Amino acid sequence: MSSKFGSRRAAPAWWNRRVTPRLARTALLSADQQAAVLALVAAAQAEDGVAPISEQALLAARGRSGRAVEHVLAYADSDLAGYLQVDETIGTGSAELVVAPAYRRRGVGSHLLRQLPTGTRVWAHGDLEAAEGFAAANGLEIVRELWVLGRRFDEAAPLAEPVLPDGLVARSFRPGRDEDEWLRVNAAAFASHAEQGQMTRADVDARMEESWFDPDGLILVVPEADPDTVAASHWTKRRSDREGEIYVVAVDPAYQGKGLGKPVTLLGLTYLRDMGVDDVILYVDGDNPAALKVYRGLGFTTRSVDRMFARPDPHVDGSSPGSGTMRT
Ligand SMILES: CC(C)(COP(=O)(O)OP(=O)(O)OC[C@H]1O[C@@H](n2cnc3c(N)ncnc32)[C@H](O)[C@@H]1OP(=O)(O)O)[C@@H](O)C(=O)NCCC(=O)NCCS
Repeated sequence: MSSKFGSRRAAPAWWNRRVTPRLARTALLSADQQAAVLALVAAAQAEDGVAPISEQALLAARGRSGRAVEHVLAYADSDLAGYLQVDETIGTGSAELVVAPAYRRRGVGSHLLRQLPTGTRVWAHGDLEAAEGFAAANGLEIVRELWVLGRRFDEAAPLAEPVLPDGLVARSFRPGRDEDEWLRVNAAAFASHAEQGQMTRADVDARMEESWFDPDGLILVVPEADPDTVAASHWTKRRSDREGEIYVVAVDPAYQGKGLGKPVTLLGLTYLRDMGVDDVILYVDGDNPAALKVYRGLGFTTRSVDRMFARPDPHVDGSSPGSGTMRT
């Protein structure tokens, strides 16, 4: 049917659905903004089956991070339709982006993405088709992959006994005493990993205040003769009663090459198993074949992959993502 105004046929769905969101930027979310962001994150997680932003970004959204970030909120009328968080303290900058399920395929994600300087990298968690399609549509390239490996204790072979080299013993972390020494070893072990290596005292303190923190789950390997010095550590995390995570394994470079990696990893796994955990995951960079080999040798298999995307910048050599991660 047509009239002098043209065709009356229904316009394609996308025509009506496109929205140009109103943006609000802030370094610190108000209580109302924070509640809206956390609700959006929860709705996306329920829809996608995976948390849309990292633990670090979630801490920042909750005002519990030691790092300065910018929050960009995209509103459609009074609804929070999308959320972008930009952390420029790391390398060339990294961002996390999520659109409320009810506002997807309406251009909100692309609008938020256009707020980022060229070269800023965007995380996509959980290997989702939407992120892949979105990245392709926006000309983004994969610049880094972070693998999620997992193992159930009842699936793989029983855990071997952790055997430490002579002169080294394991003990629990002592809150209020071991933070700076742990940070020293973490910074040295992750010197080439911008994110993990730059972890600050405020970052550690924020995690120690989380409900999951347990000093007995942060295992330190120390010289028997010098127990205040950390040679290696394994920070485990209980994600729930039955799920654990190898959160950070770090060996001081002065102690690397002495076969500490395997027993330190086993110490944490044994702890998690004894706490009743039956499934353990870990994150490892796709370009770290040595770590991948150790974990696969311990029975871990690939569960998922997180990807970092960036728009290629013709003026910048994009060969190195130049950053590591919280984790191994
Ligand atoms: C990925 C995400 C941010 C996309 O947000 P969005 O507002 O729906 O994206 P847009 O409307 O701007 O989509 C732009 C284009 O991306 C592509 N795209 C978006 N979602 C897609 C999907 N589910 N499947 C295939 N392609 C998709 C399409 O080409 C789309 O254009 P079209 O709708 O005209 O076909 C959103 O799905 C989301 O929040 N996912 C969970 C968090 C996440 O993965 N973030 C990482 C982003 S890299």
